[in-house]
Amino acid sequence: MKFFIDTADVDAIRELHDLGMVDGVTTNPSLILKSGRNILEVTKEICSFVKGPVSAEVVALKAEDMIAEGRKLAAIAPNIAVKVPLTWDGLKTCKVLSGEGFMVNVTLCFSANQALIAAKAGATFISPFIGRLDDINLDGLDLIGDIRTIYDNYDFKTQILAASIRTANHVKDCALIGADVVTAPPAVIKALASHVLTDKGLDQFTADWAKTGQKIL
Ligand code: E4P
Repeated sequence: MKFFIDTADVDAIRELHDLGMVDGVTTNPSLILKSGRNILEVTKEICSFVKGPVSAEVVALKAEDMIAEGRKLAAIAPNIAVKVPLTWDGLKTCKVLSGEGFMVNVTLCFSANQALIAAKAGATFISPFIGRLDDINLDGLDLIGDIRTIYDNYDFKTQILAASIRTANHVKDCALIGADVVTAPPAVIKALASHVLTDKGLDQFTADWAKTGQKIL
């Protein structure tokens, strides 16, 4: 499973990149706001060291304008995936831009039918939002499973990019279901390494080692 990092924080991406944990990056207008950076500048900086897909999202609502924005974003670097919302205009944009050879990430997906129609429109990635479904007492993971089944039934090549990941358990469950990619905030990626018994065991080993009076170095 590929790990994308869901942030526009360059320092956080670099830290995980240096550990080989970054297969790509996703951003959205809210994350650009949080970064305090200009979208073109920060996206270019991310693409200077991340070689996998870097999603940059259009903000126009009409297809004609989305297409123009998408072309401008795609000109930043060859590994840009243009992110478009799952609206009718977004699907039109997806069809045009994927036909021009650009990667397209169709975002704000909340149903299996939306994922089906995005695949028909040529999406490279579909982004179902797990956490936001959980927030309204629906089951985001069920959606990932339904999309996996549908895509496999018909051999769609669109990759399932599980988004709105809030917990380490979301990552594990997406891996079990067979999502192609998870995009998660840096803190969630780091949480994958944590276990209370690891901490407890290390405390015990450290205490016992001190009692030996030995040194390795
Ligand atoms: C990624 O593409 C999405 O924009 C992101 O995962 C949304 O996450 P949130 O629901 O935590 O804002």
